[in-house]
Amino acid sequence: MMMTISILLFLFLVSLSLYKAYTNTKDVIINDIQYKSIEPNEPHINLLQISDMHLENISISPEQLYNQLKDNKIDLITITGDFLDRKRSIPKLIPYLKVFNKLNTKYGIYVVFGNHDYILKKQDLNLLKSTLEQYNCTVMQNQHQKLVINGDVLNIIGIDDSSTNRSDLFKSYDNISPGYNLVITHDPNIVLEMKNHHFDYLLSGHFHGGQIHWPKPYHLAKLGRKLMKMNMVKGLHFYDNKPFYISEGLGQTVLNIRIGSRPEITYHKLSIKNITEKVTSKAI
Ligand SMILES: [Fe+2]
Repeated sequence: MMMTISILLFLFLVSLSLYKAYTNTKDVIINDIQYKSIEPNEPHINLLQISDMHLENISISPEQLYNQLKDNKIDLITITGDFLDRKRSIPKLIPYLKVFNKLNTKYGIYVVFGNHDYILKKQDLNLLKSTLEQYNCTVMQNQHQKLVINGDVLNIIGIDDSSTNRSDLFKSYDNISPGYNLVITHDPNIVLEMKNHHFDYLLSGHFHGGQIHWPKPYHLAKLGRKLMKMNMVKGLHFYDNKPFYISEGLGQTVLNIRIGSRPEITYHKLSIKNITEKVTSKAI
């Protein structure tokens, strides 16, 4: 009898914990990041970062996402990989892409792929890419694009996924103009290899804040050993004095639960003014 009660109590506590871990996936955290001070009247860019949507396990609907975003001034959107890993999830992406389009950003939507996107067969990855392009996303695979904003140059550099050995830093920076270098990439581990490739700011995801980050960040056991050892699991960090950001992502992998982490929407406020002159003589 005692044994049965203990088992029932144990199962009850496990179910309760799993339920809480599931409700955590609906509890989106909004982070406002500004890695250096900006004067009140200084021109700046409001950037929205979305990462790791994992459409197989996402608890935020497109409508809920739109309601979260609609009242904010957003100039530029970046999505740092891991949209999905199954072909059948591609149609599910479309309502989210419509939300991003509805925000009417001044400078557009720039995206990179993550390791999960590369699980798709080649023709399915092509379908994902063409779907993104159909909804005005610039898909970046080791390439850059130059934007001129009020006379200042903003280079958006999309470095392909490092965790699947697709990063090509030289190709990504090939013939780049002097300016503010904003890197978007999936796996933040790439910062460890960028001693000779200058960036002013780098946006990434991949780690999910550990996803089940209790009592330790399990999701990172195989993904981010080096950065994890340096306690760089989520949020803003500096490596070689260069700032980079690791988003916890919006969706989940394997199980739709989070413990010790939450889904994340991130706003970054950037000043790119006067960077162009400063870097003209500086090696990339
Ligand atoms: Fe991911």
